[in-house]
Amino acid sequence: MTQARTALVRFGVSLEEHLLRRFDAFIGAEGYSNRSKAIADLIRKEFVSDSFARGGKVAGAITIVYDHHKREVVNRLLDIQHDHGAIIISAQHVHLDHDNCLEIIAVKGSGAKVKALADSLKSVKGVKHSTLSVTSAA
Ligand code: NI
Repeated sequence: MTQARTALVRFGVSLEEHLLRRFDAFIGAEGYSNRSKAIADLIRKEFVSDSFARGGKVAGAITIVYDHHKREVVNRLLDIQHDHGAIIISAQHVHLDHDNCLEIIAVKGSGAKVKALADSLKSVKGVKHSTLSVTSAA
C-alpha cells in the first residue's frame, strides 16, 4: 500500500512495569526491533478490527482447503463465489497434493459482505480448513 508520507509525532506513554516487560517480550518474539513500530501496528490492527465490526471497507484473503474428489464441494464453492462476484478480486487455485486443493480468494468490500462470503465457504461440507485475513481498505 502506498501512503503519503506523514509527519511522525513523539508522545510519552506511562505503563505498569510488568505490562511493559510483557509487551517487550511479546514484540521481541514477533520480531519487532523497536516499540514504536509495534505500537503503530497494534493501533492499526485495532482500527481494522473496528472497521470490520462496523461493516467498513476491508480487503483481504480467504483461504480454503478441500478434497476435489468430492465433486459437490467443488460445485458448491463455485456457486458461492459466483454469487459474491462483486467483492471477489481474484482467485488462485493450487493443487496441493493428489487429494487436496487450496484456494486463495482475494476480496475487497464491506466487512459484513466479506465475512458472509467467508462464512458461506467455510460451512460447505467437505471444506477441511478455512481462514479469513483482512486489512483496512480505507
Ligand atoms: Ni486442485
